[in-house]
Amino acid sequence: MIVCKSQAELEKMHRAGLVIWEVLNDLRGMARPGVSTKELDEYAERKTAERKVRPAFKNYRGYPATLCTSVNSEVVHGIPSKSRVLQEGDIISLDFGVECEGYYADAAVTVPVGEITPELKKLLTVTRESLDLAIEKVRVGNRLSDISATVQEWCEKKNGYSVVRDLCGHGIGTHIHEEPNVLNYGQPGRGPRLQEGMVLAIEPMVNIGGPDVRVLDDEWTTVTADGTKSAHFEHTVAVTSNGPWVLTRPREMQGPSW
Ligand code: MF3
Ligand code: CO
Repeated sequence: MIVCKSQAELEKMHRAGLVIWEVLNDLRGMARPGVSTKELDEYAERKTAERKVRPAFKNYRGYPATLCTSVNSEVVHGIPSKSRVLQEGDIISLDFGVECEGYYADAAVTVPVGEITPELKKLLTVTRESLDLAIEKVRVGNRLSDISATVQEWCEKKNGYSVVRDLCGHGIGTHIHEEPNVLNYGQPGRGPRLQEGMVLAIEPMVNIGGPDVRVLDDEWTTVTADGTKSAHFEHTVAVTSNGPWVLTRPREMQGPSW
């Protein structure tokens, strides 16, 4: 069952979402050569406490940190570590979830570390654009798979990358993961119709090479099977009668999502 949220519930999720947006923007500036992923995690943990909200990922199914920090060929769920020191030319996905008064929000952004190659810049741009195009589909009456098909069309058919099949976005609300699964591939016009109050975490995961991934021995870090680099962007988006409401950024913000 897909649970629809009231205006008051959406406001709570938005409060969680604004903390995420603030912290991810700070982290974007901190992701410089010489910084460890652990330092980024500690910053997110500190800010979460200051804002009097709760990190959503920590202890979720035993996950040990506040952030997921996934570098280069790591797709998602990279565990922050003192020994993982960022280098010029890396890309890093920063994924952060927050709970506020029992309500969750979830977002991610992939950022460059120093100067990156044109090839990687394009990967980041195309992946972010696929999220922007997908957000535009979050409208009453559209079908769930219209979102999925839009991501796949832009990343694969138009730009020659691969979307990951083994992982997907999700509904979100009083749990970090709720129904439905939001796939990043598929035919349009399938699945449930979107209704006012539904909230979806849309998260394209896009590889330069093939779609296959595997999980490392730490049981979390998901990497591309072929070692090619991967990007990941995510927003928590509510269906409203006025169109998409991105809960993980300030209400007045227009234009590109990240
Ligand atoms: N944004 C990711 C997701 O939606 C983060 C989950 S990491 C976990 O699945 F540690 F919480 F599992
Ligand atoms: Co998510």
